[in-house]
Amino acid sequence: MEGPWVEKYRPQTLDEVVGQEHIVKRLKKYTNEQSMPNLMFSGPAGVGKTTTALALAKSVLGEYWKNNFLELNASDARGIDTVRNQIKNFCKLKPMGAPFRIIFLDEVDNMTKDAQHALRREMEMYTKTSSFILSCNYPSKIIDPIQSRCAIFRFAPIKKEDITTRLEYICNEENFGYTDEGISTIVYFTEGDMRKSVNILQSAATEGEEVTEDAVYDVISKSKPQDINNMVTAALSGDFMKARDLLRETMILQGTSGEDMVVQIYQDVTKRATEGRMDSNVYINLVEYIAETDFRIREGANPRIQLEALLAKFL
Ligand SMILES: Nc1ncnc2c1ncn2[C@@H]1O[C@H](COP(=O)(O)OP(=O)(O)OP(=O)(O)O)[C@@H](O)[C@H]1O
Ligand SMILES: [Mg+2]
Repeated sequence: MEGPWVEKYRPQTLDEVVGQEHIVKRLKKYTNEQSMPNLMFSGPAGVGKTTTALALAKSVLGEYWKNNFLELNASDARGIDTVRNQIKNFCKLKPMGAPFRIIFLDEVDNMTKDAQHALRREMEMYTKTSSFILSCNYPSKIIDPIQSRCAIFRFAPIKKEDITTRLEYICNEENFGYTDEGISTIVYFTEGDMRKSVNILQSAATEGEEVTEDAVYDVISKSKPQDINNMVTAALSGDFMKARDLLRETMILQGTSGEDMVVQIYQDVTKRATEGRMDSNVYINLVEYIAETDFRIREGANPRIQLEALLAKFL
């Protein structure tokens, strides 16, 4: 199999970007303009910020976009001075074959405040010939003087239906069969992150001929909700030894980590409580124990022992 699917199926034009319709619509207005304001793309991981920036650059800069586009990681380990030098060297040159140049800076929220102030000065110096696109996960971490110099675009998690359609499209292109449960399991666990969804799809596809629910669970190392359900039911009905066996089985078979296991147990009891299948007082008690177990495992306690102790509280 050739290369990662996330690259192979990275949208090349604004029209191909999945979801984010209102953003694409606003951005299209910059095509055929002689300049563009500074932009800020914010939002969770894997929803198309970098992809959209590249597609926009192609659309507004035209044929010579590569000569007029600079992509930098703001949290470059070599420090802000390296970043500033690269910006300087790039901006000093006149745009070639395009009305202006675009500098795309990724992970701006990982820059220190001082570095952000330095960046702001750079942005001011080259406003005539260059536009900046800044990308971040948390806009609140960006200093106000930068925010106020940018048109802000908030990228949303991709809708479940849109991810489903995209994954089905990729399966068809790659001639891989899939089951609806396989795809919906991916979509359930990735919570709007398209990159993660496509990566899981590709890993699951290499495992067998078909992307099935089982193949997906093997790849993501999460336990099946039904297995967790059986385990919790056993514990609640007083059969500790059975619950303990089921715990060991799912942890070994699926390779689920202690942290993930606690989260999945939490999801299971929450579902019972919200559907009225568990008394709210019982639920409140359990959540307290679950929180304690979660904390202890994160602090380094033995997950197996902690989880067994948690199940003992269910009795
Ligand atoms: N809106 C989208 N439509 C289609 N594919 C997408 C979309 N968003 C992400 N992808 C897929 O995920 C990959 C990564 O997306 P991208 O690099 O744009 O994410 P990002 O939002 O910049 O994430 P990060 O915050 O981690 O930098 C793309 O190459 C593409 O395969
Ligand atoms: Mg990115």
